[in-house]
Amino acid sequence: MTDLILGIETSCDDTSVALVERDGTVVAASTASQAALHTRYGGVYPEMASRAHIDKILPTVRMVLDDSGVDPRGLRAIGVTRGPGLIGSLMVGVSTAVGLGQGWDVPVLGINHLRGHLRSADLEERRVDYPATILLVSGGHTFLARMTDPGTITLLGSTVDDSVGEAYDKVARMLGLGYPGGPAVDRLAATGSPVFPFPRPMLRDGLDFSFSGLKSAVERFLAAEPDAPPADVAASFVAACLEVLVAKCRRALAADRSECLVIVGGVAASPQLREAAGELCASAGVRLSLPPLRWSTDNGAMIGLATWDYLANGQAPPALATTSLSIESF
Ligand code: KG4
Ligand code: ZN
Repeated sequence: MTDLILGIETSCDDTSVALVERDGTVVAASTASQAALHTRYGGVYPEMASRAHIDKILPTVRMVLDDSGVDPRGLRAIGVTRGPGLIGSLMVGVSTAVGLGQGWDVPVLGINHLRGHLRSADLEERRVDYPATILLVSGGHTFLARMTDPGTITLLGSTVDDSVGEAYDKVARMLGLGYPGGPAVDRLAATGSPVFPFPRPMLRDGLDFSFSGLKSAVERFLAAEPDAPPADVAASFVAACLEVLVAKCRRALAADRSECLVIVGGVAASPQLREAAGELCASAGVRLSLPPLRWSTDNGAMIGLATWDYLANGQAPPALATTSLSIESF
């Protein structure tokens, strides 16, 4: 038996596969990005995403197996994202995993995508000390949680409307920057100044977030002032997002002792957020743990590591068919 798990992730627009050891070492990984396919729509086109997964999934699995020279019949398990995500995209990953598992006689476990993100900072080398306060900022979700160990997650607060990644993508579309919007907004923001006073929704209240009002404020502002310098608009938007994210993290850290603050999900790739989080942690006397950039956005390695948690605990994961998609169903 090879002590490896094959992680498969197809919840959105990345077809990603990895072979992962129990300690988070990634033996081989490959991601086929569909960004070029969706950029002209300013967002992910679900029907095209699932068709592209069908084209890419087996070659991506093959590449990872060839790179590593691993015999798949000896794998400990296959872990596959079962949700949340685009249903057509998820079905490609799940049906492929079930087929491969049957052919290789290897068990298949269905993994919650968010649980994967929450484990991404432990990939490659052990980076998280528990208990940890964890901020998840992705295209689909924004929430704060507390983890007392890798398997025990308590939700502290989440967005009441849009995710911060969605706001980045929508603002990118308003500014004509294409998809995915986050990196483009960051790059433009770095050349501008945060001179426009966009709202900081729910800044003073608890640990929940709201980004829909900020997104609409940028839209209204651009309609009223179409000649405003785009770089200053982007910088003002990013400043508003960061102030809210940092304030909520500071509040969560003050409420309970944490060894470290962990930030995961696609928006954790933002250099501005990384810098602001570094300053917060230095002032709060808490270690900052961030996944390497390639494990911040969607990837099969984080799904592989989350699969190990179930095997290590001897705990049965939710059934593959239980596509309960809420974050309560971790
Ligand atoms: O975690 P992820 O890859 O997929 C979801 O689970 O949603 O996150 C995707 C999100 C998108 O909204 C994308 O614009 C954002 O992460 N993103 C970034 C950066 N890279 C990706 N946002 C800000 N700065 C970045 N560098
Ligand atoms: Zn994700």
